[in-house]
Parts: sequence; C-alpha cells; structure tokens
Amino acid sequence: MSKFLVALSLVAALAAPSAFAQSEGNAERGAKLAYTCLGCHGIPNYRNAYPTYSVPKLRGQHPEYLVIALQAYRSGERSHATMYANAANWTDTQLADMATFLAGPAVQPTSSSQPVGKAPEAAQTCVACHGSDGVGITPQYPTLAGQHPDYLVRALTDYQRGGRKNAIMAGFASQLSAADIKAIAAYYSAQRPGLETSKRPAPATAKR
Ligand code: HEC
Ligand code: HEC
Repeated sequence: MSKFLVALSLVAALAAPSAFAQSEGNAERGAKLAYTCLGCHGIPNYRNAYPTYSVPKLRGQHPEYLVIALQAYRSGERSHATMYANAANWTDTQLADMATFLAGPAVQPTSSSQPVGKAPEAAQTCVACHGSDGVGITPQYPTLAGQHPDYLVRALTDYQRGGRKNAIMAGFASQLSAADIKAIAAYYSAQRPGLETSKRPAPATAKR
C-alpha cells in the first residue's frame, strides 16, 4: 500500500471509529424491516398515548445516533414500553439498516445562514454539541432542528427524572427549569432546515 493510502485509511479510522461506520446500514434491507415502524414514525403528527406527546421525527437524523437510541431502548437505558418492544428483537445490523432507511439524507448544518430567532440563555451550553442551528455536530449527537417541541420537552424531563439514563444528558438537563426546557424546545423546533416525518414507500400495487 502507498504511504498516501496508509495515511488516508488512518484518517478515515480516526474520523469514524464507531461500530456503525464499519457496518453502515443498508437502506434497502431497512425498508423491508421498518414497515411497522412507519405505522407511527411515518404519519405526520402521530402521537404517543398516555402520556400524550408527538412521536419523534426521524428523517434527517444521524443514523448513527438512531442506532444508539434504539440500543438504549433495547437495554432499558431508556424506558419506553412500546419502543422496547420495537427494538428488543433486532440485531445491531438490523437496527442500523432500519435507522439508515428511516433517516434518509442527514440535515446539513447551516454555517452560512443565521439561526431562526435568538437562542435562549439556557441553551448556551447545548450549542457546543447540538449546534446553534440544532444540527448535531457529530453523528452521535442528535439533531434537534425541526423536532416536535413536545417531544423535546418529554425527552428533557425524562433525562431529569431518570426515565432516560444517559449520563451526559442527565447532567445537562438537571440544570434546566421547566421554563428553560419550554424555551429551548421552542427554539430548536423552529430551526430550518430541520427533521421531518419519515417517508412511506409507495405501495407496490401502485406500480403498473
Ligand atoms: C406505536 C408507535 C411506535 C412504533 C410502532 C415505533 N415507534 Fe419508535 N418511537 C415511538 C415513540 C412514542 C418514541 C419516543 C419514546 C420516548 O419517549 O423515548 C419513539 C422513539 C424512537 C426512536 C428515538 C428517536 C430519538 O430522537 O431519540 C427511534 C430511533 C425509533 N423510535 C425507531 C423506531 C423503529 C426502528 C421502529 C420499528 C422497529 C419504531 N420506532 C416503532 C413510537 C413508535
Ligand atoms: C457534550 C455534548 C452535549 C451537550 C453539551 C448537550 N447534549 Fe443533548 N445530547 C447529547 C447526546 C450524546 C445525546 C443522546 C443521549 C442518549 O443517548 O439518550 C443528547 C440528547 C439530547 C436530547 C434528546 C434528543 C432526542 O431525539 O431524543 C435533547 C432534547 C437534548 N439532548 C437537548 C440538550 C439541551 C437542551 C442541552 C443543553 C442544556 C444539551 N442537550 C446539551 C449530547 C449533548
């Protein structure tokens, strides 16, 4: 191997050290596996019942983050009975395939343009990882731009109460008041471009 190629593969290895990058998801396989997921994640403004809040938008999210989230439901790090049932019986490869299909192309950061509105004071620490435009700065940090505000409120209160046990976010969420959470959720959900509801594939019967 040439020195150039060695250097190139080293850069690639350093830039993308995770398991996901080594076995990137296959959207075509994912489309077949994720059929039931679209019953909730493919319907605009679909809501979780008891308590009522919007089902998160996944389109435009980093697939690598979606896999981390699914593994957290599977392990119980995030407690949610429906999502446990939907994550429990898949392998990591199957989760990556579904995540890649449900996410589609990732929302790109908007370094050249201005964020929509003024970031609340309490969001000053958040932008280091979630960006001022709401686009997660690494594939492991979720994009928040365009996400349903009531889902963001739910997620942040879950980090506070221990329903979600991620140590990084438990720490940051613990410093927020209910008013901070509301303001931050409104700010990030207003950012564009942003996340969208996953697309449902056209039914096969529509083909001629
Ligand atoms: C009955 C409705 C329903 C079905 C079916 C469903 N989900 Fe979910 N999903 C939810 C809800 C509600 C949440 C938010 C849970 C929470 O509060 O943590 C969620 C959360 C998620 C998240 C985390 C998103 C984030 O931003 O952290 C991912 C990823 C996900 N679902 C993927 C899937 C996949 C893959 C399937 C199919 C195998 C699926 N879901 C099936 C309702 C559903
Ligand atoms: C050091 C980086 C970092 C900082 C700073 C940070 N976060 Fe996060 N955030 C993360 C990571 C990593 C996750 C995924 C955690 C998990 O797996 O549940 C996350 C998850 C979230 C989620 C859940 C998203 C979803 O789709 O379910 C919200 C909402 C959120 N962060 C808001 C905030 C807010 C508000 C702040 C500032 C008060 C903040 N974060 C600061 C790294 C960070």
